[in-house]
Amino acid sequence: MAEKYKKQDISRASRLSVAPMMDWTDRHCRYLHRLLSRETLLFTEMVTAPALVRGGAVHLLGYNPEEHPVALQLGGSDPQELAEAARLGAEAGYDQIDLNCGCPSDRVQSGTFGAVLMKSPDLVADCVAAMREAVDIEVTVKCRLGVDEQEPRDTLPAFLEKVSATGCRRVVIHARKAWLQGLSPKENRDIPPLDYDLVHQMKAAFPHLHVSLNGGVETLAEAEALLAAGLDGVMIGRAAYHRPWEILAGADERIYGRAAPVSDPEDIARAMLPYIERHLSDGGRLHQVTRHMLGLFAGRPGARGWRRVLSEQATRDGAGPEVVEAALERLTEAA
Ligand SMILES: Cc1cc2nc3c(=O)[nH]c(=O)nc-3n(C[C@H](O)[C@H](O)[C@H](O)COP(=O)(O)O)c2cc1C
Repeated sequence: MAEKYKKQDISRASRLSVAPMMDWTDRHCRYLHRLLSRETLLFTEMVTAPALVRGGAVHLLGYNPEEHPVALQLGGSDPQELAEAARLGAEAGYDQIDLNCGCPSDRVQSGTFGAVLMKSPDLVADCVAAMREAVDIEVTVKCRLGVDEQEPRDTLPAFLEKVSATGCRRVVIHARKAWLQGLSPKENRDIPPLDYDLVHQMKAAFPHLHVSLNGGVETLAEAEALLAAGLDGVMIGRAAYHRPWEILAGADERIYGRAAPVSDPEDIARAMLPYIERHLSDGGRLHQVTRHMLGLFAGRPGARGWRRVLSEQATRDGAGPEVVEAALERLTEAA
């Protein structure tokens, strides 16, 4: 059994977190990220409460014990259903439960959850209160600055006021609005402008809240600067996924003052091999794991060859660890 994290550990861990990303931060990705950083808080992809509670899809809660500290992100808008989903998550051993109030996709909008909840702070408060009542681990909220025509300088403080009145002590703010009409989910991660100042203002207005900033953070140096400027945490999504070595391997030392667990990305690739063997012997496919490893050598000599071997060969029937060995050879040749 993995050691259970205490509340204060999670608060510390959330100085840096890897964002929840559908189809990306699955259990294989998180296993890889955990090899790179022992300290960083990892998030699952969003799991919808209806899928868990009505659909009985509890397999979506599967994770590797090595992943702790790990937060389960839930999507939904029915307080009782979310409470039940949170209970299932806590029972499965997650360290924190997060409510998604930031995802703009159509599918999610149709179920009245995600970013559209920014328009219903009372409902969000009911959801968070019901979830908090159901579990004894921390319940957090990941939100946007606002949506559509909202004026975030007015609506975001009102939203946070309601959320914090439930006893919720930690939020992640994606520092841009979501425009629910006319933009794709991808465009909604790039086009609405970032406003870091407003997140700083929210920290000043709600000093008791643990506030993490998310959105557009590209380097550890930027994360360090945001922490030094008074924020409690920084969440990184795409940069951590595409450049995991650069973002995560230095995190333990620079963000947490602990020794870095590894000094060479090649060691990480090799450390994935026993995990890959296990996955294959459980009936999984190589590509399901290696697709998350494509960026491991980003910016290093041979990175392109590494990526090419993995992307061309890992999807073939019967592909196994020898593909990773072959990809590593490309790096040695390049060096
Ligand atoms: C492929 C992808 C999937 C995402 N899925 C989710 C999700 O399930 N839940 C969520 O709250 N945000 C999701 N996001 C948004 C990220 O969590 C994050 O807020 C966003 O990418 C901005 O951070 P970044 O600029 O560091 O990437 C997703 C982003 C990407 C790129």
